Amino acid sequence: MTTAPVSKEATGEGRPKRRRGGGVCLRLVDWLRIRQLRDDGPFTSTRQAECLNPARVAAAGPVTGPPTHVSLTTDQPGFHSLHGQYSNGIIQAPNACVLGAYGSGKSAWVKCSYVLKPVATGARVLVFDKKRQHQDGADSGEYGRAVEILGGVKIPLDRRPGLGAVINILDPAIVAVGAEDSMVGQDELLSMAAEVACGGRLVDTADSAPAHALRVAHEAARRRAAAERRVAVLQDVIDALFSPDPEGVPGPVDADGRKTLAVQGVVTVETLIRWGLPVALGLQRFISGGDMSGLIDGETRGPGDTELDLSDPLLVFDTSAMSDSSPALGMMMALIGAFVQARWTLVPGPKILILEEAYNVDRLAGVASVLRALAKRGRASGTAVVTVLHHLSDLQEGSDLWTLIRETDVVHLFLQDKTDDAEQCVAMFGLDSSLLETLTSLHQGTHLLKVGRRPLEVVQQPRTALEEWITDTDAGMLAAPEAAPRFAVTEQEALDAAV
Ligand SMILES: Nc1ncnc2c1ncn2[C@@H]1O[C@H](COP(=O)(O)OP(=O)(O)OP(=O)(O)O)[C@@H](O)[C@H]1O
Ligand SMILES: [Mg+2]
Repeated sequence: MTTAPVSKEATGEGRPKRRRGGGVCLRLVDWLRIRQLRDDGPFTSTRQAECLNPARVAAAGPVTGPPTHVSLTTDQPGFHSLHGQYSNGIIQAPNACVLGAYGSGKSAWVKCSYVLKPVATGARVLVFDKKRQHQDGADSGEYGRAVEILGGVKIPLDRRPGLGAVINILDPAIVAVGAEDSMVGQDELLSMAAEVACGGRLVDTADSAPAHALRVAHEAARRRAAAERRVAVLQDVIDALFSPDPEGVPGPVDADGRKTLAVQGVVTVETLIRWGLPVALGLQRFISGGDMSGLIDGETRGPGDTELDLSDPLLVFDTSAMSDSSPALGMMMALIGAFVQARWTLVPGPKILILEEAYNVDRLAGVASVLRALAKRGRASGTAVVTVLHHLSDLQEGSDLWTLIRETDVVHLFLQDKTDDAEQCVAMFGLDSSLLETLTSLHQGTHLLKVGRRPLEVVQQPRTALEEWITDTDAGMLAAPEAAPRFAVTEQEALDAAV
């Protein structure tokens, strides 16, 4: 319930007096005393009060989530939740992208609107935190304070033995064969890993069929592990590539149960070895001693061989120990995204996967296509994918990531410091060219918000004191230098120091 005082505009106070001889209606208005100023506000419900300013109320948009911003376009508070907007039919898929120049406030928005508020209202969130940030006397990563406040768990990814988590690419939580409309499967992840390791796509031709060799080796690995009553691991696939099952020869079987192509000598077990050899050699890079070992070899486990507990609502994978734009980093983002999404299918409720510094994966075709598949198939597990980038020019036009962003219904456009970048945004999202000036002059913490077909708004993110603390990424820039060492000044102090 609210009290709604009638404004001076509504009462007409201060307006010139009506000329004599006005219409019957106006006399009626006078008689009803509607144009008189009321000192005490009438007691009314919020619902009834809407009629006092219908145009403004309509502009505010539906309440689909917690309050997140103030619209500078309508002067109204704004509410934002990807799952809320999806369930209200405002957007077709619950995915978002956040674009903006360095330090424009992207992560602050993501931390408050896609981490703090969703987790506080029952969602699960997975973040890849790439930024090393020295805060509160420790190297906490930029999501460290969010983890501290929300009680989340931080999981390091680090190739050095015992320091990071290992994700088994053949973990039973991940379905063996992916389906177009539900989950990303082990088969897609394996081929992504092989492509990352081999540095190119696995394409089957008349002369060589590496993708087929990998597929049948995967099946053989699963069969062998099941027969031995254990979980299949990457080494099983490599073994099966080096020594394939005769069953892996493609094509029909004759009356005696023999593969026709093998009988004719067209494709034999030796042929399978030849097709699979580069894949096996590539995958060996992930096995102990290889240059990408310690990430996907062996059964899934947490740092220091502990059990990897993913039950916490906030999971922050710390990728700061991995080099920028490295193939291993992109591959792990896609693999962990698929793995956690698979585990989340068993848990009801909304989930959000946040890809900070997503441009890291664009050059890796197989990786970007898995991430796009995660976004497309997220509805099966209730997962929204949020992609955070600086500029569209960081992406190759037409790449999977580019397409993912073009298909995204919710776009947050922070400052674009170069006209070229702003023009690219205007073209990509079909905006009016009059917005170019706005895009190149947005202040920190302010952005252009596009949600489905709703009118565009310039929105500003107010932060509470706690949110300011959580989202402060300037600690390194603004930190005072450490206290200068004090030199001994007295004879006694000099002697003490010498001892
Ligand atoms: N709404 C806001 N109001 C005022 N200051 C803000 C707001 N949002 C962020 N800032 C400040 O701006 C600084 C940069 O914010 P943030 O780290 O979110 O930017 P970013 O765009 O993610 O930067 P980068 O591109 O380096 O990742 C932070 O220290 C933060 O405190
Ligand atoms: Mg950031």
